[in-house]
Amino acid sequence: MAIATSLQEIRQLTLDRHHTQNLSQQLYMGLRNMMLGGQLPSGSQLPSSRNLAEQLNLGRNTVIAAYEQLQAEGYIISKRGSGSFVASPLPDQLHSPLVDAKPEIGVPKSGATPKIHKNINDSFCVGVPDLAAFPHKTWQRIQQQLQKHSADFMAYGDEAGFWPLRRAIAQYLQQSRAVKCHGGQVLITSGAQQALDLCIRLLLGPDDVIAMESPGYRGVMRALQHSGKKHLPCRVDQDGLDLQTLIDAETTPNLVYTTPANQYPMGVVLSLERKMALLHWAQTHQSWIIEDDYDSEYHYQYRPLASMQGLDPHQRVIYLGSFSKTLYPGLRLGYLVLPDSLIERFTAARIACYGQPPLMTQAQVASFIEEGHFYRHLRRMRIAYKDKLTALQQAMTMLEPWGKTLQRNAGMHIVFVCYQNIDDHQLVQHLEAQGIFSSPLSEYCHGNESLKGLVLGFANTAAEKMLRKISVIRTVLETLYPTD
Ligand SMILES: Cc1ncc(COP(=O)(O)O)c(C=O)c1O
Repeated sequence: MAIATSLQEIRQLTLDRHHTQNLSQQLYMGLRNMMLGGQLPSGSQLPSSRNLAEQLNLGRNTVIAAYEQLQAEGYIISKRGSGSFVASPLPDQLHSPLVDAKPEIGVPKSGATPKIHKNINDSFCVGVPDLAAFPHKTWQRIQQQLQKHSADFMAYGDEAGFWPLRRAIAQYLQQSRAVKCHGGQVLITSGAQQALDLCIRLLLGPDDVIAMESPGYRGVMRALQHSGKKHLPCRVDQDGLDLQTLIDAETTPNLVYTTPANQYPMGVVLSLERKMALLHWAQTHQSWIIEDDYDSEYHYQYRPLASMQGLDPHQRVIYLGSFSKTLYPGLRLGYLVLPDSLIERFTAARIACYGQPPLMTQAQVASFIEEGHFYRHLRRMRIAYKDKLTALQQAMTMLEPWGKTLQRNAGMHIVFVCYQNIDDHQLVQHLEAQGIFSSPLSEYCHGNESLKGLVLGFANTAAEKMLRKISVIRTVLETLYPTD
């Protein structure tokens, strides 16, 4: 495009002398938009600054400043002796999908949007607490109070986490879980998942093996898939993790992941005899045990059982906890209670790999615990979840033709074990279409067992809706697997 045509286009720009944006900025924006919009295509020659200033009745310096800005950002190329030209490609096009660029690895194609559950309320989604019952007002009040001192939370802070939170967690665990610890052993993490990743990174060498329960927590399997480390599946029976697999293993595992208080997902308790045997085994082989105490707060018949960490005289247990079930999962806060010998290494690795979770959020949780709201909230939730569990277990009798519900008195989910002819993945897909987001039991199995069934989270489903929701499952089962 020749100068005269460019000028014709540019003269259509309206510049407002009373606008808060100065004239040079307005001219810069106007020209930039014309370039991006195609009115001034790449290669077009622009009028000289003197010429444009005269035509638009502007000071020459105003035009020079706009041109300089466009040149600095790569929209204009100045050629000595010939003038200024619109660049090709424009800087924005370097990032635009119109440019012939290689597709990015791992980015979903258009249409392949990530799976987000639209409405997880009353949907049996696993691992989600009662979000409506969360004390939002108290939470906001604490946040507002902290905002008044926001300057205190703007720097990096203690590398292992906000000290008052570490101290509050240690006190809570001593009292409620008989964990033997002091605040200095607590490392705050971004949820249990980050804590698991740290254990895998730091405690497993290239040829080392982690033993874990099967059926077991999918979060560990996911973390392992990304680390390339090997795992040894251990059977689970009525007394929890079966130690025989550990004893018979060709390669002695360096790490054992277990959920002793409430085996995930089957809900059995690791017997005291096995706990002691596992601690002894770990000490003998100098292996580590990860005790994932993810939802031990929720026991509906007895007081929660004391932790295994508290029974260990040799400091071989790494205790893992999370606020995902006691507060809410979007908070992304968890913690490790580490043996003294590991705390420095873990803290250094956490800082190197991830930095630390937001200070203000940590401070908010610390105040929530210190002011007693955490204990009150847990007490209320224990009562509410017990009612929900009772209602759900009654409703589950409707599904008896297709399987068996495992009885339990703890936690936030139940397990329905189906008879073998049922494809639980297909079943889950059909249920999703009905707004029910359960998980297929077979997905938790990574050993030789082939259990089929449904894992149903009940904490975020109203007690009075259980019957209706389970009758939806019954209808789907009847359609897919008619009883006669
Ligand atoms: C066995 C187990 N551990 C830990 C967690 C918590 O994980 P996070 O803190 O990463 O949300 C869950 C949550 O579903 C779980 O089921």
